[in-house]
Amino acid sequence: MAKDKKRTAKPSKRSAPARRLAAQQMYRCEATVAAGLEDIAQDELRRRLGPDARLQALARDQVEPGVVRFDYTSDLRLLLQLQTVIAVFLVRQFAVPRPRALLGDEHFRALLQQIATACDLLPGATYQTLYLGAAGSDTAVMARLKQELSSHTGLAVAPDEGDLLIRVRRTADGTGWETLVRLSPRPLATRPWRVCNMEGALNATVARAMALLTQPKPNDCFLNLACGSGTLLIERLACGPARRAIGCDTGIEALACAQTNLIASGYGGLGELHAWDARALPLPAQSVDALCADLPFGNLVGSHAENLELYPALLAEAARVACPDALFVLITHEVRLMEALLNQSAEWVTVEVRRVTLGGLHPRIFVLRRH
Ligand SMILES: C[S@@+](CC[C@H](N)C(=O)[O-])C[C@H]1O[C@@H](n2cnc3c(N)ncnc32)[C@H](O)[C@@H]1O
Repeated sequence: MAKDKKRTAKPSKRSAPARRLAAQQMYRCEATVAAGLEDIAQDELRRRLGPDARLQALARDQVEPGVVRFDYTSDLRLLLQLQTVIAVFLVRQFAVPRPRALLGDEHFRALLQQIATACDLLPGATYQTLYLGAAGSDTAVMARLKQELSSHTGLAVAPDEGDLLIRVRRTADGTGWETLVRLSPRPLATRPWRVCNMEGALNATVARAMALLTQPKPNDCFLNLACGSGTLLIERLACGPARRAIGCDTGIEALACAQTNLIASGYGGLGELHAWDARALPLPAQSVDALCADLPFGNLVGSHAENLELYPALLAEAARVACPDALFVLITHEVRLMEALLNQSAEWVTVEVRRVTLGGLHPRIFVLRRH
């Protein structure tokens, strides 16, 4: 299908590289991210896409947390490889007062072209259904838009979640409307390796950000305490090699789930899984370089009463096995308990605390360094 042409090159007296850039397709993009991790997503965009991505600065108090905007001038397929973003959208703005105008011939053709640009990135049969995400998506105009899009694309309208997600919303300055088309049929956070899902499993993009916060190095002995279905362990291995990568959990079902996922990830031969209690690890003192944990925090796994006993014991045992300067990156919703324990800790220094938004909750990621 035809490419989405947003800006065209004008003949000018610009230098050759500037002319090349001007002649390139410029895509306006928006990535959704777990709120609180925007800077980590921006780092990944810079690392993977280099100068082809022009990032918009993050405001200090982002009006819209969890959003990273950028202009992009290269192969859109590269955006499907991003690991710390939940989804990437192609954005198109229309200087129209009402969404009804999107049904007009010129704008509707532009919207179809935007959709074609997204659909053409993946094999033909990938998209079967479409759905519209918009405030007032059940209004007559939105219903008509859905039907028109369906009949022109051949995609069936999905009542709820579908393959092709199209969002329609007012532009931030309120002067027009914009359409956002997701570049993948599922969020990028849905990893192909997750063949065994466990209640309470960590969002993989958050796990990737946490693994990156351990500053991974090839010679690391990495330990994922209370590993559950293996999300942090697998995302750490996906960051690069480690001397050892260990996951441990007391739940036999969780370990079986982690094993299945580890094999599906292709890192089966690189990760170890053990039925160890995180409060009493059969590891020598000062033998671990980096640690991660998604601790039980009371809603789905464990209880507050159990955490009162588990957290101090786990922090003490982690401190015993950690090498000097080792980083321990953990996530929990038990913020007061964790802060109280860390205030008293002679072993762990708090480097950073991040408030993230996940499924309507606001857990914190604590980055700790061993004294
Ligand atoms: C929030 S879940 C971890 C989920 C995991 N991050 C995932 O993505 O699947 C917490 C895990 O802590 C484990 N756990 C609880 N107490 C433990 C202990 N004393 N030692 C090791 N694991 C423990 C539970 O079995 C559970 O799998």
